[in-house]
Amino acid sequence: MSLTIRPLTDDEIPTGYQLGRLAFGGPPEPPAQFVQPVPGVTRLGAFDTRGRLVGKATDVGHEQWWGGRRVVAADVAGVAVAPEARGGGTARALLARLLADARDRAAAVSALHPTVSAAYRSLGWEVAGVMLAGSLDSASLPSAPVPGIALRPGGPDDVPLLTDLYEQVARGTNGLVTRRGGMFDVPSDAPLGEDIDSITVAESDGIPVGVLGFGRGRGYGPEAKLEVHHLHATTVEAARALVGVLAGWRTVTRSVQLSFPVAHAVAAVLPLERATDVTSQPWMHRPVDVVRAVADRGWPSYVSGRVRFHLVDDLAPWNAADWDLSIADGRGELTRVAAAAELWLSVRGFAALYCGVATGAGLVQAGLAGGSDDPAALDLLGCGPAAALLDYF
Ligand SMILES: CC(C)(COP(=O)(O)OP(=O)(O)OC[C@H]1O[C@@H](n2cnc3c(N)ncnc32)[C@H](O)[C@@H]1OP(=O)(O)O)[C@@H](O)C(=O)NCCC(=O)NCCS
Repeated sequence: MSLTIRPLTDDEIPTGYQLGRLAFGGPPEPPAQFVQPVPGVTRLGAFDTRGRLVGKATDVGHEQWWGGRRVVAADVAGVAVAPEARGGGTARALLARLLADARDRAAAVSALHPTVSAAYRSLGWEVAGVMLAGSLDSASLPSAPVPGIALRPGGPDDVPLLTDLYEQVARGTNGLVTRRGGMFDVPSDAPLGEDIDSITVAESDGIPVGVLGFGRGRGYGPEAKLEVHHLHATTVEAARALVGVLAGWRTVTRSVQLSFPVAHAVAAVLPLERATDVTSQPWMHRPVDVVRAVADRGWPSYVSGRVRFHLVDDLAPWNAADWDLSIADGRGELTRVAAAAELWLSVRGFAALYCGVATGAGLVQAGLAGGSDDPAALDLLGCGPAAALLDYF
């Protein structure tokens, strides 16, 4: 099918919303931010020869934290193709254009949540993790006074703390989004932020070291549930104190719904083995531009090494080449080389290594790497902690 791919004009955004609504079953009356231009958000449309919108994809404009550095990303959402046009290469054309445009604006990496991993695998993304959420019995949460932590109710002036404390946790991880820019910057009419009824701030010597923000939900019977949208702590004491606040709800909200935290103080406190109604949401990753993906992030300072490989990437041809990867002193560099490398790596294999969730040997078994050299040499690209994601987009 002959397609024209271009950004939607402001007037076309509502038509794009309706295409997405048909695919995902959204509300007929869209939330304002979904039908308005939002700085940093790029909505691409695919038009057929009669000018009809037959597909759309959104680059949401978040950034990602990698090794203490902010990396420009092209995180993807809302990919939808009209039912009659499916299977004809529309999504492929849209995402090829999205990647090319993202590269032009200096993006390095991309993440998305798939409804169908096979389609995105064929376009070079690979599953790199699963976001978990579930319910905890409020009565199972630890609650004891925590010396040195003062708790106070938060108000509208404390809303920025939700992002500031998240950031203090997220910047030490790999993969978490920055929660600034794009949809994150759309102001909310709700005084404490969207879906938040209560904020509690934990302070140590007057300095905020943790914050909790939740929606109260309805009722006080067995079904009543608190929905926790923010639970960030930079010390285990703050985490204990805030989880203790949740425990204090045991008489009127028997359960607490929350995303499972990753590798930080809150994770060290919650009894996750008691979680029920657990849901999982896989996420996939891909380099937009491999040179930037390596150069723009931080690497573990204790690692140094060098490996050559040939990278296969059909959708982003600027990545397909023979490369020399070197890592030293917390920095990485990818240099194009003329001589043919003995190892090859698919872009999906690159993504899995980059996210710290694969080894070279495992990728050979998966058919995502190969060659005559020892594939363990590729583990250099996989050094560092496994990446994670806490946001759905
Ligand atoms: C998923 C969807 C976006 C795919 O769009 P499309 O235009 O049909 O996809 P394309 O024809 O460009 O196919 C791209 C690749 O994905 C593969 N693919 C597409 N749909 C697939 C499916 N349902 N299952 C497995 N593979 C699929 C194609 O085979 C193709 O791979 P290939 O080139 O290696 O053969 C479309 O079916 C859709 O809108 N579905 C409903 C909404 C949805 O699920 N959106 C995705 C949100 S993450």
